[in-house]
Amino acid sequence: MKNDLYELTRTRRSVRRYGSEHIDDEIISEIMKVALTAPTSFGHKPVEYVVVRDKDMIRKIGACKQMGGSQINGADAVIVVMVKTADKRQAEFWIEDGAIASAYILLAVEQYGLGACWVHIRNRMGQRGTSDQEIRSLLGVPDGYTVLNLVAIGEKGETKKAYTDVDLHTENVHYEKY
Ligand SMILES: Cc1cc2nc3c(=O)[nH]c(=O)nc-3n(C[C@H](O)[C@H](O)[C@H](O)COP(=O)(O)O)c2cc1C
Repeated sequence: MKNDLYELTRTRRSVRRYGSEHIDDEIISEIMKVALTAPTSFGHKPVEYVVVRDKDMIRKIGACKQMGGSQINGADAVIVVMVKTADKRQAEFWIEDGAIASAYILLAVEQYGLGACWVHIRNRMGQRGTSDQEIRSLLGVPDGYTVLNLVAIGEKGETKKAYTDVDLHTENVHYEKY
């Protein structure tokens, strides 16, 4: 049976090495349009993004994560995914809201044949404080937001095998009863 979305999701793999191709701002803007359609709890739309293209700033953001942050250094764009957590009512599902939007970004990137990787920030440490605090301070993000993760994007600099039906953990799906 035709399943366009499965074709996209099985091809998407985490890409951590990038080529030097420059991604048009227009493509980034189309990717962000997809993110903005992601569902959010109660439709509060509490997820905000900083799109970073400046290479020096990308390197500084990477340094805000002690372990593994430098993997974003070769990316052509980094999307900082943050959620408005000041309002407790809107913040109940902040992780879910940010994660769904990030997954949308990962799929949108794959649609353009580009590579991407989720780089985790929540509960990670930077040089002096938490990664979240250090990234918000670098980017001038006001209080009341929490950074969940980054999505690093670039030309695919490594080839990864697409998933096929045999890779799927079909035993994880239960019908009617466990
Ligand atoms: C919540 C979450 C956190 C992740 N954190 C990182 C990370 O900090 N660094 C990284 O390189 N990959 C990270 N990943 C990517 C996973 O390692 C990757 O999705 C997994 O190994 C499966 O590989 P695939 O994406 O190619 O299917 C994260 C993924 C998720 C969903």
